[in-house]
Amino acid sequence: MSTLDAARKRLESIPSVSLGHLPTPIDELARLREAIGLKARLLAKRDDAMSFGFGGNKIRKLTLVAAQAVADGADTLITCGGVQSNHCRATAAAAAKLGLACRIVANGARPERSTGNALLVALYGAEVTYVESRQERAPTMERLASELRAQGRRPWIIPLGASTPLGAMAIARGVGEMVAQGVTPGVIVHASSSGGTQAGLVAGCALHAPGTRVIGVSADDPAVEIQRTVLALLAGMEEALGLTRGALGSAAGVTVDDTMIGEGYGIPSAASREAQALAARTEAVITDHWYTAKALAGLIARARGGEFDAAGSVLFWHTGGQASVLA
Ligand SMILES: Cc1ncc(COP(=O)(O)O)c(C=O)c1O
Repeated sequence: MSTLDAARKRLESIPSVSLGHLPTPIDELARLREAIGLKARLLAKRDDAMSFGFGGNKIRKLTLVAAQAVADGADTLITCGGVQSNHCRATAAAAAKLGLACRIVANGARPERSTGNALLVALYGAEVTYVESRQERAPTMERLASELRAQGRRPWIIPLGASTPLGAMAIARGVGEMVAQGVTPGVIVHASSSGGTQAGLVAGCALHAPGTRVIGVSADDPAVEIQRTVLALLAGMEEALGLTRGALGSAAGVTVDDTMIGEGYGIPSAASREAQALAARTEAVITDHWYTAKALAGLIARARGGEFDAAGSVLFWHTGGQASVLA
């Protein structure tokens, strides 16, 4: 067996919990394709349409990350994010389904009336601690964990965005899922932030679709920072899968586009407004101004520039985020 075969086998053998039905659908977006003048086929991997917990890339990551917590005997999941974090909502949903308690550390003001992801977090029964800044999140999670341990509980901290090598490996499995559905696109475009999704897609393509390019469109951070995080996560996955350094990707294969951030995280831009409206009106696909509308705007800009003319097919990996539209 080749080293890559062994790595694929190891990847598939990582214990997981079932959170909704996989595979997620792959849709042809013919009307959107026509509207943006794209010559290649346009497809979407609908992780937003996952049947569990309002879906998205974070649910996919939690299939492995929550499994590890359960295997370790955890009784409480602790994680952090912004008040409208998709990751916090996904973690609260996973905890509810797995019979675990959930504590969320949210940076921002306690909303007067909970909406969107904040409302779902409350409905899923998670307890939220509000902190003023992003810097306070990690120490507050540690404090909550030691308080719980002192009470004899077994807390399990999931880092921001579940962007650990294990979380990224769940996304890499998603690429295997896509190939098994008979789709191997020339290019994948997706929203990128804490790096786990991009690392997973790059690793998944190295293992299952070596001719496929991955372009991550940044929601907030400069390209160099996300690229650095992605490379560190790739190294972690290589170690976990028994591969040599660089086997899953190098800097040349980690393309991050940070030209779509506009005025900042979650602030709509002219391009994200256009992308959101086009996708909604041509395909009834909903995207959000934190992540997916900006990623789609990046895809549209490149399509209009002719970059994908020879790509064969372009796949928009829809990472979810639709609940924040209702915030
Ligand atoms: C809807 C959505 N898309 C994309 C991302 C980016 O994923 P990652 O943090 O793995 O880079 C996130 C979370 O940050 C998200 O919530």
